[in-house]
Parts: sequence; structure tokens; C-alpha cells
Amino acid sequence: MSTKGTILVTGGTGYIGSHTTVELIQAGYKVVSLDNLSNSNINVLDGIEAITGTRPVFYQVDCNDESAIEEIFTNHPDIQGVIHFAASKAVGESVQKPLLYYRNNLLSLIVLLEAMQRHGTTGIVFSSSCTVYGQPEVLPVTEDAPVQEALSPYGNTKQINEEILRDVVYAGVPYKVIRLRYFNPIGAHPSALIGELPLGVPQNLIPYLTQTAAGIRQELSVFGDDYDTPDGSCIRDYINVVDLARAHVLAVDRILDEAKKSPALETFNIGTGRGVSVLELIRTFEEVTGVPVPHKIVGRREGDIEQVWADPSLANNVLGWQARESLADTLRSAWAWQVRLKEQQK
Ligand code: NAD
Ligand code: UFG
Repeated sequence: MSTKGTILVTGGTGYIGSHTTVELIQAGYKVVSLDNLSNSNINVLDGIEAITGTRPVFYQVDCNDESAIEEIFTNHPDIQGVIHFAASKAVGESVQKPLLYYRNNLLSLIVLLEAMQRHGTTGIVFSSSCTVYGQPEVLPVTEDAPVQEALSPYGNTKQINEEILRDVVYAGVPYKVIRLRYFNPIGAHPSALIGELPLGVPQNLIPYLTQTAAGIRQELSVFGDDYDTPDGSCIRDYINVVDLARAHVLAVDRILDEAKKSPALETFNIGTGRGVSVLELIRTFEEVTGVPVPHKIVGRREGDIEQVWADPSLANNVLGWQARESLADTLRSAWAWQVRLKEQQK
């Protein structure tokens, strides 16, 4: 396999970071991975190695630790690009602990950008979120839809990080920035060797659903069936995590390809283009796995967006990226991962 270049992946043992590391290695990149393991496990590296045959160079460091980041860039002068996943991501927790979120999610980007500038690394791909759109007026939502006031400190950190990246580019620092706005990443690698590792009681739909199907939780609560949607439950755009990981590889290809002369700052929606309701998702899971999901309708969750799904045409046309995996296969992969996790815990 030819080597394309070296990429620093922050949050590399996390859910999306681990899947992206696999896709980068399989595409011929060398990965230097860092994580403080605040929300992931070192064993993830075993899964990555089992899938790819390569164990990425790994540093257990905090992204906010300037001297540790400086040391990584010094040790690896071949780092050509950075994918910045490392962040705290629990919306509810961010409301309780805003300073933790602002410190962790804002400072880490600043520390990285400064180190990149010192070492002449220009390319960075940033994990943003469709949360920046709030409830869009027009669906499917395109990248030029207005950014709306954030509903949580977590959402606000994504907006501010997007602005920081915009401002450094406007200031003329020669960065190449791609901001990827993810819709709802779900599922796991088809090998079931890596996946999402929620700590404690899951706050997101899919881990709660698979834990309920596995009998770990008694019942899934569906937050509201009185929304202005066909079946009354909220609608999201659920994107397969491996598809999402592949979008990062294409983004990195793009920022490293000087011949492309791409703009210094680009933003892409990464979603399927299809909205799926909570009730439809539960039904599809039950159909494709044959496993029932006990659930009940409860009241709305505060701060929930009623419905949002992506217009992914820009990513389709400019990055050459397409969501490939069906919802059925994605839900099967989420279930296979849950079954494996439960077996491991026996
Ligand atoms: P994750 O928690 O699984 O991964 C993030 C990783 O970063 C974890 O392994 C954690 O230990 C690490 N980390 C956190 N702070 C760190 C720090 N200061 N230094 C070093 N490591 C640190 O989350 P994920 O789902 O893989 O999300 C990755 C990125 O994508 C995050 O920026 C998140 O905000 C963003 N995002 C996620 C979703 C989603 O639904 N999963 C949606 C939109 C955007
Ligand atoms: N839901 C339930 N029951 C649950 C959990 C969720 O009915 O137990 C519903 C929610 O009301 C929502 C849908 O399932 O309608 C999806 O909820 P998630 O919590 O899984 O995802 P969100 O769309 O609320 O938010 C997620 C991430 C955010 C990110 C956003 C957009 O948590 O960090 O996607 O990428 F910003």
C-alpha cells in the first residue's frame, strides 16, 4: 500500500475518530492518534489493529496541553494534516458544566492551530454539527442556511469553533480548512470490532435503543409524538459512521492536494439526505434484527429540534462523497456491536 502522508487525529480512540482512523489507514495514510481517554478506551487500538493490520502511533495526551502537542508535532515533522475530533459532546452535561465545555472544546482548537502554524501544517478538518442550524426553515437544509442561536453550551462551542476557523483563514494565515457538519452518526464498523462506547446511561437514541433491545434497559422513551411530522415523532438524518469516516478521508485528500486549488475554507453537510422519524427507526430496527424494542411515548425533551435532514449535494459534487450504507445495514451493525459489547462484559 502506498503511503499518502501523515495525519494527526485528535480524539482518535473515540467513536468517529476510531472509524476514521481505520478508513485513513485503509486509504494509505499514516495516522498519529492522540486522545486523553476521557471518553474512550485504549483497547480501541486493538480493534483498529485487528481490522487494518496496523497499530497507529498513539499518544495519551490532552489536546489542551500545549507542550504535549508541541512535542507531537516535533516528533512527527511529516504531519501534513489534522482531523480534530477531540471534544466533550454531551449536550445535557454542557448545560450543567459550561466552563468545562468552553475550556475543552475551544482551547483545544486554539492550541492545535497555534502548533500547526509553528510547524507549517496547513490542513485541518473540523468536526462540526448540524446543531448549528437549529430548526431550519427550509428542508433539506443546505450549508448556506443561517446559523441560529445555540441551544446549549456544547452547540455554542461548535459555532464558536467554526468562527475561529473562519477568522484565522480571513486573517490570511495559510490554513486549508474543511468544516464537516455531521448529521446523526450511528452504527458501527461491519466487523463489530469497533463501535460507540457510551459511558453510563446513554443520552442518544441508538445506544439507548440497542441497550433496551439487549435487555440492559427496560424501556426506550420516545420523546414526544405530538410534533408536526407524519407520525408525530422527531425526524433526523441518521448517517452511517463508516460513511461519515470516508467523508473525512476525502476531505483530507482535498486539503492535501495542492493541484486542486480548493478554497481555503469550505463547509459540507454530511448526511444521507433522508429524514427518518424516531418511530420509523424503532420499527426498522425491529424488522431487520427481529429483536423487539419495548418503548413508550413520553413528553418532549427540552431543546429538541423537531425535524432536520441534510441536503448533501455539495459534499456529493465537490468531495465526491456519497452515503452508501442503507439504514437497515446500519442498524444491523449497531446491533452486532451491542451484542459483542454484551458478550465482552460476561
Ligand atoms: P467521542 O466522545 O466518542 O470521541 C471524542 C474523543 O475525544 C474521546 O475519545 C475523548 O476521550 C477525546 N477527548 C475529549 N477531550 C479531549 C481532550 N481535551 N484531549 C484529548 N482527547 C480528548 O465522540 P464522537 O462521537 O466520536 O465525536 C467526535 C467529534 O464529532 C466531537 O467533536 C463531536 O462534538 C463531534 N460530533 C459528534 C456527533 C455525534 O453525534 N457523535 C455529532 C456531531 C458532531
Ligand atoms: N430520542 C428519544 N429517546 C431517547 C433518545 C433520543 O426519543 O432516549 C429522540 C430525540 O428526541 C431525537 C432523536 O431521538 O428526536 C435523536 O436524538 P439523539 O439524542 O440521538 O440525537 P440529537 O439529534 O438530539 O443530537 C445529536 C447529538 C448532538 C449533535 C446532533 C447533531 O447528540 O451532539 O446530533 O449532530 F449536535
